[in-house]
Amino acid sequence: MTQPHAPRAVFPGSFDPFHVGHVAIVERALRIFPQVVVGVLQNTGKDSVFEADERAEMIREHYRDTPAVEVRSFDGLLVNFMQDMNATIIIRGMRAVSDFEYEFQMALMNRRLWPPVETVFLTPKEEVLYLSSRLVREVVALGGDVTGLVPDAVRQRLEIRFRETNTPPG
Ligand code: PNS
Repeated sequence: MTQPHAPRAVFPGSFDPFHVGHVAIVERALRIFPQVVVGVLQNTGKDSVFEADERAEMIREHYRDTPAVEVRSFDGLLVNFMQDMNATIIIRGMRAVSDFEYEFQMALMNRRLWPPVETVFLTPKEEVLYLSSRLVREVVALGGDVTGLVPDAVRQRLEIRFRETNTPPG
């Protein structure tokens, strides 16, 4: 059965910061869905390096010439945000077996909360399989170079942030 409209997809996350592994997931998602909304969680419950608005701004900057990608921040339940966005597909990257349990629980809980939702798991770029936002924060905080691991807009702001505050990695 063909669908009259392609479903809208949301790629949610903390994105503290957004890195090239995330970029690759968005790229793959765009092969399946005509439009992807990157949903930046506002209150991560962790000590974020960047405020949600800053995280969203950097991602927006990266996609400024890609109209198929929209960037929004959200608070509260993801399924409520999905409904506000008129989207039914959640995109998540799954890097390793260690991600599985958490991702599986989230997918089932989201479906329980809002049955029309479907979670689509995409495989990461193998060259950066090891990459995580936590590692990026740690490397930058210790003076390491993350060129090529995060978009340029993100790298510049990260370096400034850690130079200014000398914040230890969260
Ligand atoms: O990048 P992260 O931190 O793994 O992303 C986690 C995220 C944002 C997808 C998840 O924490 C989330 O959806 N939070 C919103 C709150 C919510 O809806 N919780 C119930 C679903 S399990």
